[in-house]
Amino acid sequence: MADFKVKNKTLASKGHLQIEWASKHMPVLNQIKERFAKHKPLRGLTLGACLHVTKETAVLIDTFLVAGAEVALCGSNPLSTQDDVAAALAEKGVHVFAWREQTAEEYYWCVEKTIDHGPVITLDDGADLVSALHTKRTEVLPGIKGGTEETTTGVLRLKAMEKKGELKYPIIAVNDAYTKYLFDNRYGTGQSTIDGILRATNILLAGKTFVVCGYGWCARGIAMRAQGMGANVVVTEVNPLRALEAVMNGFRVLPIAQTAPIGDIFVTATGDTSIIRKEHMQKMKDGAILANSGHFNVEISIKDLEQLATSKRTMRQNLEEYTLKNGRKLYLLAEGRLVNLAAAEGHPSEVMDMSFANQALSVEHLAKTERLPPKVYTVPKEIDETIARLKLEAMQIRLDKLTAEQKRYMTTWEEGTI
Ligand SMILES: NC(=O)c1ccc[n+]([C@@H]2O[C@H](COP(=O)([O-])OP(=O)(O)OC[C@H]3O[C@@H](n4cnc5c(N)ncnc54)[C@H](O)[C@@H]3O)[C@@H](O)[C@H]2O)c1
Repeated sequence: MADFKVKNKTLASKGHLQIEWASKHMPVLNQIKERFAKHKPLRGLTLGACLHVTKETAVLIDTFLVAGAEVALCGSNPLSTQDDVAAALAEKGVHVFAWREQTAEEYYWCVEKTIDHGPVITLDDGADLVSALHTKRTEVLPGIKGGTEETTTGVLRLKAMEKKGELKYPIIAVNDAYTKYLFDNRYGTGQSTIDGILRATNILLAGKTFVVCGYGWCARGIAMRAQGMGANVVVTEVNPLRALEAVMNGFRVLPIAQTAPIGDIFVTATGDTSIIRKEHMQKMKDGAILANSGHFNVEISIKDLEQLATSKRTMRQNLEEYTLKNGRKLYLLAEGRLVNLAAAEGHPSEVMDMSFANQALSVEHLAKTERLPPKVYTVPKEIDETIARLKLEAMQIRLDKLTAEQKRYMTTWEEGTI
C-alpha cells in the first residue's frame, strides 16, 4: 500500500489518461522502459524524487517502477503539481506527497516525507531534497549511493556545496547533458513560457515590447518564440558573450533600468536573484506584466512589489494585480514562480522525453556503478549520444555515415591547401 498525500484521490482516472497521452509522445523513454521491464536494473532500490509532479514525470516514475524500484515523490514547486497526475501515481503504488498550491511549510513537509522512505538514489529539480538531506536529515546520508539533478539552479547549488567540501554523495548533473539543456531549456522553456503567459493573460504578443532578462539557454528560447509571435524583444544581460550573441541574433540589448519604462511584458530567466527591483517597478508603464521562468521565485522582487503597492487583487487564476502608490497597475503572473509550470503544463512531452531519458539512464548508471566520490558529475557521453540516436530513430530521421576516405581525412594532418 502506498503512503501518500494528494489533493483528491478521485482524480486518478483523469490522471491516468494524461499520463497515457504524455507517454505517447515519449518514445525514447518508452524504449528504455521496455528494457528496464525485462532486466529490472533497479530491483529492490528505493528512489526519492523531488520533481515537478507532471504527466511527463509520471512516465519517468513508471519507468522506475517497471525496473523494480520503490519510489517516494514530492513536488519541486508549490504551484506545479498536476493533482490528477498525483492521484494516479498514488494509485500506481508511488509514495507521493504533492498537491497544487502548497504553503512553504507543507512543501517542506512533503520533502521530509519523501526522505522518510530512506532513498538510496535521489532525483532533484533545484536541489531542495539534497539540501534537506544535508541539513535536517543527515542521519539518512550514509545510505545514499548517489543522485541526479535536473536544472541549472540545482547544479549551481550543488557545485557550491562541492567547492566548500560539503557535498556528501555523488550527483549527476542531468541538466548539463547536451540532450537536456539544448532542447529542454531552450525549446521547452521557450514554448511553455509563452504558453503560461498566454493562459494566464490571453494577451496579444504581436507588437508588444517583450523584455527577456538573461540570454542563457532558457532565455534564448523565450526570446526566439516571443519574436516569432511578433513581439519586439529586448534582452538584458550581464555576460558580454551572451549579450553579443543576443545582438547578433537581432535583439536589442539594454540595461534593465532602461527597459523599465518601455516594456509591456517582462520575463526573467537568469537563475539569479532580484533582477526586477523597486527602482524598475516604479518606472514601469501602467499595465506592465511580470513573469518569471527561472527556478526560484526570487528573480522578481515580490517584497519590493508588496512594499510599493497600496492594494492587490486576483484578476483571474495566476494573475495578480498590484496597484502602486503612483497609481499605476502592475500584473504579476503565478506569484513570480515558474510561469510555464504554474500557469501552463511545463515543457511538452517530446522535450521531457530526452531530459527524462537522461534521468532514467543516469539512475541506472548510479545503481550499477561502485559508489563514486562525492562530486558533481556530467552525464556519461555514451548516454547523451544514445539518447540523441534513439530520438532521431523515433523521429525516423536518418544520418549519413563517414566514408573510409572521410574517416582517414579527419584524422590526418598531412593534407593541406593543395
Ligand atoms: N522554466 C523552466 O521550466 C526551466 C527549465 C530549465 C531551467 N530553468 C531555470 O531557468 C534558469 C536559467 O537557466 P539557464 O539554463 O538558462 O541558465 P544559463 O546559465 O544558461 O543562463 C542564465 C543567464 O542569465 C544571465 N544573468 C545572470 N544574472 C543576470 C542579471 N542580473 N541580469 C541579466 N542577466 C543575468 C547569465 O549571464 C546567463 O547568461 C535557472 O534558474 C534554471 O534552473 C527553468
